[in-house]
Amino acid sequence: MSENEDKHNHGHSFNPENWRKLESDERRARMDPAKLIQAMALAPDSTVIDIGVGTGFFAVEAAPLCGKFIGVDHSPRMLEIFRSKEAFTTFGNVELLEGKAESLPVDDGVADVVFHVNLFHEVADMEKFHQQIRRALKPGGRLYMADWKAIPTEGGPPADHRISEQKALGILQRDGFTNIGKLDLYEDHYVFSAISG
Ligand SMILES: C[S@@+](CC[C@H](N)C(=O)[O-])C[C@H]1O[C@@H](n2cnc3c(N)ncnc32)[C@H](O)[C@@H]1O
Repeated sequence: MSENEDKHNHGHSFNPENWRKLESDERRARMDPAKLIQAMALAPDSTVIDIGVGTGFFAVEAAPLCGKFIGVDHSPRMLEIFRSKEAFTTFGNVELLEGKAESLPVDDGVADVVFHVNLFHEVADMEKFHQQIRRALKPGGRLYMADWKAIPTEGGPPADHRISEQKALGILQRDGFTNIGKLDLYEDHYVFSAISG
């Protein structure tokens, strides 16, 4: 892969006005958020960062299981929708930060786990993004990432905006992640776990 091959935003950026799609029953049936969060086996005292937290579809499952939960999103509208959720008011350990995936608004080495879902294909500069994730993780911290498979699916981004599983794996390897494992959790999405090597 050439140095700049993945350095482009595929032109697809999630429109916050479509937020209801993220919370739909159809989505939940195909992508149960509890499956991914259970697979993470979060320690009760762990600090977890969700990049591109959106409406908190995965966050509401993860926050009760960890010590501190940090949600980052560049869209104030998405953060507002998450804040207005009833579940949000029950959490005392959630911090929501407006910020970019490529310049995370967190200190170095704060996170035991970083995860992101359906964000990868929207990121403009993956090398920078991965540097930021590795900076935010504690040594040996874990990354979990999930994104749309490059196959025909109901809903999701157009085919030419998707990043194939094979390409995603290559980018993770190139950017210094190790112990990369594939989790077979969803029909329409690939999921990788990795260590910040
Ligand atoms: C498709 S939504 C997924 C939301 C959530 N992860 C989920 O699966 O329900 C993508 C989210 O990432 C946010 N996002 C996209 N690009 C971003 C970037 N470069 N930095 C921070 N957030 C970003 C969008 O505002 C949106 O909330």
